[in-house]
Amino acid sequence: MRHFLTLRDYSKEEILEIIEVGLDIKARLKNGIYDKELENRTLAMIFEKSSTRTRVSFETGMYQLGGHALFLSSKDIQLGRGEPIKDTARVVSRMCDMVMIRTFGHDRLEEFADYSNVPVINGLTDLYHPVQLLADYMTLKELGKTENLKVAYVGDGNNMTHSWLMLASKLGFELRIATPKGYEVNAKVLEDALGFAKESGAEIIVTDDPKEAVKDVNVVTTDTWVSMGQEDEKERRLKDFEGFIVDEKLMSYAQKDAVFLHCLPAYRGYEVSENVFEAHADEIFTEAENRLHAQKGLMVWLSQQER
Ligand code: CP
Ligand code: NVA
Repeated sequence: MRHFLTLRDYSKEEILEIIEVGLDIKARLKNGIYDKELENRTLAMIFEKSSTRTRVSFETGMYQLGGHALFLSSKDIQLGRGEPIKDTARVVSRMCDMVMIRTFGHDRLEEFADYSNVPVINGLTDLYHPVQLLADYMTLKELGKTENLKVAYVGDGNNMTHSWLMLASKLGFELRIATPKGYEVNAKVLEDALGFAKESGAEIIVTDDPKEAVKDVNVVTTDTWVSMGQEDEKERRLKDFEGFIVDEKLMSYAQKDAVFLHCLPAYRGYEVSENVFEAHADEIFTEAENRLHAQKGLMVWLSQQER
């Protein structure tokens, strides 16, 4: 049995295989074919944070695959009243076939997985957001951008940045990260990524200069400056991130036909300008749609691993 907690635990071949399964399912869906690989199966979805895309994509995906998804907000279940995570894991995993969790500390997800006897999927923690990266890479594949791929991430050194680090270092593409001083990526994640990069040939560059990061890349991406759980730091963050907006001027340093991705939700006027966002809306909303297809691929793939 495999969990899906971080791309750190996955090989290049496995990551690409999951995305291929998702692309196959997507192609058949576009022809009106609903595969029912997960008939009679249930997915428990535990949310300790808000969500639009993650909830809609997992719930819809599970239904389309013939199964059923349970939306469990921590506000409504005993977990939110202090029931230990290890007890919740032992109960839920005796009744359901798979679990997706969105939570704060990555250690909470790991503890759940330790006590679960069914596959656990990371639906976002403070440290990683790996399912988003499956959809992002799927989108880049569809757009024909994965040859000579050079990605610039401009903004906060957060769960998205860490996930890009894992993806780039496993798959072997160039990733340039620009974060303001004091908002750098987690040192351990970077060290691990640099280790994987030695094997894969990935080039990882870390800077505090957005222009240096974006110069000549074919993909630019960013994320909110204020992640869930950081609301108290909002005022300070908005000041500290000045100069890190992805606007038309910054995009002009990238290749002419560069793609812009955003995991959403997007805050215009902060991490991205309205003009850049709307100019790349097709790419961004295909990326959002691909959450559905990539995660269906992931759930089918996980269900096929030995128990
Ligand atoms: N990108 C993403 O995970 O969106 P939600 O927070 O809406 O799920
Ligand atoms: N970094 C953001 C991603 C939202 C999908 C957050 O954790 O809130």
